[in-house]
Amino acid sequence: MINIGVIGYGYWGPNLARNFAETPGAYVAAVADLDDQKLEVVRRRYPTAKTTTRFQELLQDPSIDAIAVATPVRTHFELGMAALKSGKHLWLEKPMTETSLQARVLIDEADKRRLVLFVDHTFIYTGAIRKMVAIVKAGELGRIYYYDSIRVNLGLFQRDVSVISDLAVHDFSILDCLLAEHPTAVSASGINHFPGTPENLAYITLFYDSGTIAHANVNWLAPVKVRQILIGGSKKMITYDDLEPSEKIKVYDKGVSFTDDPQQIREMRIGYRTGDMWAPRLDLTEALRIEGEHFIDCIENSKVPQTDGRLGLRVVELIEAATNSMRCRGETVQLNAAGSSP
Ligand SMILES: NC(=O)c1ccc[n+]([C@@H]2O[C@H](COP(=O)([O-])OP(=O)(O)OC[C@H]3O[C@@H](n4cnc5c(N)ncnc54)[C@H](O)[C@@H]3O)[C@@H](O)[C@H]2O)c1
Repeated sequence: MINIGVIGYGYWGPNLARNFAETPGAYVAAVADLDDQKLEVVRRRYPTAKTTTRFQELLQDPSIDAIAVATPVRTHFELGMAALKSGKHLWLEKPMTETSLQARVLIDEADKRRLVLFVDHTFIYTGAIRKMVAIVKAGELGRIYYYDSIRVNLGLFQRDVSVISDLAVHDFSILDCLLAEHPTAVSASGINHFPGTPENLAYITLFYDSGTIAHANVNWLAPVKVRQILIGGSKKMITYDDLEPSEKIKVYDKGVSFTDDPQQIREMRIGYRTGDMWAPRLDLTEALRIEGEHFIDCIENSKVPQTDGRLGLRVVELIEAATNSMRCRGETVQLNAAGSSP
């Protein structure tokens, strides 16, 4: 049995505690939050769990094997580092840290101590994204021309992170799993409409050496909630709508073909192909449940998580690069072959 201590019981922490409580091999041993009223809820839901406003008590408890950190991003490094230094396996919420330097330090510490460092990029574990990744990796779409995402809604305005860190982070992690390459340049524009607050709207473009282009439109100031992705390939295309209850993914056998004949090229002869559409059946298991089981498996069997610190670092590096570009009004920021700033 892996005893888990959860730090942070605000919006997301309760989802972690609930899923760990239902995960075979895991036990919610303790919960820490600065707010004792939130801990009152914990005491009712998990009467056997220890509760405290001092996270240090979880770290000092030798019976706790792993710590899950679900506090604001600015606290991830300090809490994560303290957990690793206490010899605890670590689950960190996304994005793993504020800076790539902090992420690297955490990775080194976890490696040195042979501890599991898991980053909760939840979308990667949803049935829809897992299916999408499987279809793309099987080559069914052919060459990937573009990835186009829109994540907009009204709020929740964050005080410490921009909309890139809050919403585009999902596209960065999905792209990391979807494509066999990392972007080599990023350009982003964005704005904060309310002085003194982080940017609430951004348009981010990622460029890849293969010719793939990826774009994310993220916005906390939209009247409606939209969560859609389009992927265009040379053979097929995919649409993803996260708000669809069941048919979230649709695969379209549509495309275009250009002739090799020089005469016809001059005449712009393009063939349009429209075939069938199908909606694959999806595994509806809650992503956090799958993640919880994977986390326990990694701890028990010394495995590397699919969303390990290195994936978390690549995502933080993209957030940094996109933010730098945005603050220079869309200036292109070059990345090295590993997807990070040179
Ligand atoms: N994976 C996902 O899809 C997903 C979704 C939402 C939020 N998150 C992430 O989860 C984290 C928390 O977000 P949230 O929306 O739950 O924030 P929140 O503000 O609702 O909750 C944070 C909680 O942490 C507590 N806290 C802060 N510092 C603490 C400390 N030193 N010791 C103990 N408790 C402390 C606060 O009292 C608060 O209750 C963020 O990193 C966010 O990006 C991830």
